[in-house]
Amino acid sequence: MSVDATSTRHPAEATPVPNTGAPFATLGEAFDIARDRLSSDVWDFVSGGAGDETTLQDNRTEFSRWLFRPRTMSGLSMPSTTTSLLGMELDLPVLTAPFGTDGLFDAEGHRAVARADARQGALSIVPEAGTFSLEDVRDAAPSAARIAQVHPMGDPRNFQRMLERIANAGYSAICVTVDCPTGGWRERNLRNRFEIEPRVISGNYPGSDSDELSEVFGQIFARNADVWSWEELADAMRHTALPWIAKGILTAEDARRAVDAGAAAVMVSNHGGRQLDGAPSALAQLPEVVAAVGRDVEVILDSGIRRGSDVVKAVALGAKAVVIGRLAVVALAAAGENGVEHALRLLKEEIITVLTLVGRGSIAELNSDAVTRRVP
Ligand SMILES: Cc1cc2nc3c(=O)[nH]c(=O)nc-3n(C[C@H](O)[C@H](O)[C@H](O)COP(=O)(O)O)c2cc1C
Repeated sequence: MSVDATSTRHPAEATPVPNTGAPFATLGEAFDIARDRLSSDVWDFVSGGAGDETTLQDNRTEFSRWLFRPRTMSGLSMPSTTTSLLGMELDLPVLTAPFGTDGLFDAEGHRAVARADARQGALSIVPEAGTFSLEDVRDAAPSAARIAQVHPMGDPRNFQRMLERIANAGYSAICVTVDCPTGGWRERNLRNRFEIEPRVISGNYPGSDSDELSEVFGQIFARNADVWSWEELADAMRHTALPWIAKGILTAEDARRAVDAGAAAVMVSNHGGRQLDGAPSALAQLPEVVAAVGRDVEVILDSGIRRGSDVVKAVALGAKAVVIGRLAVVALAAAGENGVEHALRLLKEEIITVLTLVGRGSIAELNSDAVTRRVP
């Protein structure tokens, strides 16, 4: 085959996504742009973790411990990235994480994220501690597949009212964050004397001042509410007909407890290394949780996803879908709604590239044959 002498690249070296006009060329570049655009204390708040940040780092290291076992000459072209989760059809196996304080990164916050998700066929998790109310995000992106996230704490009657609001606002499921009985020990924030303005977390509780918000999110900010048990959570969730996901599971025991309490799905997560430093990486715990809950319960992987090949590895190891946290935050901070949409596009294109190179026809047919653990 002759190569066009005027072309600067051999065709086989070309990437399939045109970069012209794109806000960033790679997902890594989105991190660089976000770091430049955000103040240094906000950047520390986003990028930092708890304690010595060992769990934060382990979340990434664990992905590099898994290698692909490619099948060459597979005869399979244009692999499919579609999947379903809790009965919802998705164009790619990706959910955007609930991140409170979203107004710090873009004036439209999760409203922008949900619109980008709707266009790319990803699933939006809308946070309780967000800048906009869950009704507001619904109105901004009525066609988006949406899940509402809640913190199980404080007065059960307030929690009950929130569950009713979620159902009335037409959300399809609820994501219950179970790994946040108190805020993590985040030393970058301590050193920066970083304080969260009520404005960016009070969308669901308009007009609340810091004291009122500390009652709503009592345990996280002020340790002024009781920590709930699985039994209390099970009781509270009996009042909703919506399926729910337990976010923040790291062991087989907790996975079983979540399912016993009524969870329809479990999210293996260490909150992106922001809560308990010294907790294992989420990917390392994925096989244990998948083995514990069996085939009837869908398992989602959250924490450490930075690129398309990570998504393929997580799905090969048993995740039905993955969550992007900081990746969505930096894409939003770098270029708003367009940034989140472009990040999802880049993820999808990289997933297609990797699936083609490992010789698998679809996300759905991935299994542990596709990966092997690196020998130390
Ligand atoms: C700025 C920021 C705010 C967050 N706020 C919340 C929140 O309100 N509720 C929650 O369950 N998780 C929250 N998270 C955690 C994410 O939902 C997710 O678990 C984590 O970012 C995943 O790790 P990753 O960033 O490595 O993808 C937040 C994360 C970040 C970076």
